[in-house]
Amino acid sequence: MNYFSKIIGTGSAFPERIMTNHDFENFVETSDEWIRTRTGIQTRRIADHSKGEFTSTLALKAARNAIEMANIPADQIELIIIGTVTPDSLMPTTANLIQAALGATKAFSFDLQSACSGFLYGLSIADQYIRTGMVKTALVIGAETLSTLINWQDRGTCVLFGDGAGAALLTRTTETNHSILGTKLYSDGSKGDILKIPHGGSKYPHYLPEYQHKLHSIHMQGSEVFKLAVRNMIDASLAVLSDHGLTPEDVDYFFFHQANMRILDMCMKTLKVPKEKTWINLDKYGNTSAATLPVCLDEAWRAKVIKPGDLILMATFGGGVTWASGLIRL
Ligand code: ACO
Repeated sequence: MNYFSKIIGTGSAFPERIMTNHDFENFVETSDEWIRTRTGIQTRRIADHSKGEFTSTLALKAARNAIEMANIPADQIELIIIGTVTPDSLMPTTANLIQAALGATKAFSFDLQSACSGFLYGLSIADQYIRTGMVKTALVIGAETLSTLINWQDRGTCVLFGDGAGAALLTRTTETNHSILGTKLYSDGSKGDILKIPHGGSKYPHYLPEYQHKLHSIHMQGSEVFKLAVRNMIDASLAVLSDHGLTPEDVDYFFFHQANMRILDMCMKTLKVPKEKTWINLDKYGNTSAATLPVCLDEAWRAKVIKPGDLILMATFGGGVTWASGLIRL
């Protein structure tokens, strides 16, 4: 028997607080006009620690929404993966916190760090477990509170990111006409310096003086990231399509990582994607890293913009650097 995986539920969640571009004008040299025209971002959500908004609590809400849509008991879930570079803590994993809170007692769970590619990496891994028959139902989450890693004095990065969570529930199917058709995952550690968070690991432990030098925040070479994000998302999109003998014209709907409107425009122009065939929420949420793609999927599905049978293409690019694509027959 050949097994495949099918998405049966999606969910998303955001912190309450909305931060506008104008809010940044109070503490860095920037303007609403610069941020809007150079990035396309207008607002983003920022987690409020005092209200209990952490990566785990946002992820839990997104997961519960996905489980409610799928209408299955949480104890049927056998695998939980969270893509995040902002876990609540290093141990226990954030995935374990979710497993406990959901009562998903049959699931094994782990966190996965591949920055903005975290959701597609997780989706690909869950798909492999389901295809081999080892797991029947899996929960894949992308969740971030990047606001906790932002250097609020660095205007080149602080305006770009926002917090949020998205989730997808997958289950085993034997039908190929409603399933994940394929995924492509890529890494290039030689370019890791262009988007990195140097501290927080074993190289710079907290007791060294260097730990104080704001290296626990995001460091980015914006224009290098921009060029690679465009090229790699296009290449990854074409590669997964070519694996299935398809072209961009065959795709019903596209979801690209939401980092910068100009990146999205260049991907759409090169792949000849009309704007009505892609979901854009960058203006509202900014770059939510691993949360971006599952949130887009969830919003488009609930808005009935995508429907069962549609061919969906997803592509992403993330720090470190990583990138990925996925092709789904919904
Ligand atoms: N407000 C005003 N001016 C700014 C701001 C700001 N918020 N940020 C940068 N500038 C200034 C720079 O200091 C620079 O000034 P200078 O010429 O005096 O030195 C000038 O604007 C131009 O800077 P550039 O970096 O060349 O501006 P660019 O047009 O490339 O836009 C941006 C910068 C928005 C960061 C862009 O490069 C970008 O979006 N890159 C990709 C970012 C990205 O996708 N990151 C995440 C992807 S992976 C992931 O999601 C983890």
